Amino acid sequence: MASHFRSAEQQGSDGAEQPEAVVPEAAPQAEIADSNDSSASQSDPLEEVHVVTAAEPADPAEQPGFTSVFAPLADEDGPAVSRTGTPTVSFRNVTLIYPAQPNKPALDEVGLDIYPGEFVFIVGHSGSGKSSLLRLVTRELRATSGQVMVAGQDLTKMKNKKVPYLRRQIGTVYQDFKLLPDKTVYENVAFALECIGKPRSIIKAQVPEVLRLVGLGERMEHFPDQLSGGEQQRVSVARAMVNRPPLLVCDEPTGNLDPAISLGIMKLLDRINRAGTTVVMATHDREMVDSMRKRVIALEAGRVVRDQEKGGYGYYGAL
Ligand SMILES: Nc1ncnc2c1ncn2[C@@H]1O[C@H](COP(=O)(O)OP(=O)(O)O)[C@@H](O)[C@H]1O
Ligand SMILES: [Mg+2]
Repeated sequence: MASHFRSAEQQGSDGAEQPEAVVPEAAPQAEIADSNDSSASQSDPLEEVHVVTAAEPADPAEQPGFTSVFAPLADEDGPAVSRTGTPTVSFRNVTLIYPAQPNKPALDEVGLDIYPGEFVFIVGHSGSGKSSLLRLVTRELRATSGQVMVAGQDLTKMKNKKVPYLRRQIGTVYQDFKLLPDKTVYENVAFALECIGKPRSIIKAQVPEVLRLVGLGERMEHFPDQLSGGEQQRVSVARAMVNRPPLLVCDEPTGNLDPAISLGIMKLLDRINRAGTTVVMATHDREMVDSMRKRVIALEAGRVVRDQEKGGYGYYGAL
């Protein structure tokens, strides 16, 4: 999936005059399933424990007419990701020092490799450096020293004018949803495509589809303040995914949600990952991490103290 990233040159002229991107440029859709998957998820044990409340839409995979991008959850672990080729994200001796805290690096000699198709939790106490790490991946920040590579591109050397093209290929989801309050659900997602100059015909096709996929097909004309927190987060996931980026970066996406609703969001992210998108998710939701059995990278005071396959939240610090 590293090859899904395209350089600024490859992205053609449609974005050349565009301002800062909101969402990634289109990724190839070759791996996107177009068959009807609605029956395939019925046996998933996770489906059975998901509490569907009036405020929370049913899992989209259970709805009639579900087709699509998101593979059904399997009842076992997905196929192992082969760690070959170019990592999607690679850190080498990365140190980040904020000018306001010159004696306390936010990240201290961090090294890690995340390969295409992986799902990785970044865990650690508040202040351990999770958000800083993600902000280096999106080039909101530049490392003080060391090398940050995304899909083979060196972000520490990348010129500012190329950053919008990078960002089009990275979907982002945050704890506080960041929806535009005066736009409908449909308009919030459409806006992300408008900002990168997508034609109306594409917008009209892709926006309803992605909203159906996240279970909001019936809520397109609602405004954010008419939605539950879980629904608002689904809108922000839809917005992040509408252009099918190869990499999804999530910073505490369940941080404002209660456990049952968080599980629905987690399942959505898992499904997105199983369809091929690399997902990097910062969280301190211990139960979630323990239940998902994904790779866990633990930070403590800016250092990687654990990097474990199918890990739990654990004691970070215990190597
Ligand atoms: N803008 C900033 N200026 C100065 N220090 C910061 C800034 N943002 C974060 N920090 C510091 O960097 C460290 C890591 O913060 P952060 O990456 O936000 O951690 P986490 O996301 O794990 O809570 C903390 O010590 C925090 O106080
Ligand atoms: Mg944070």
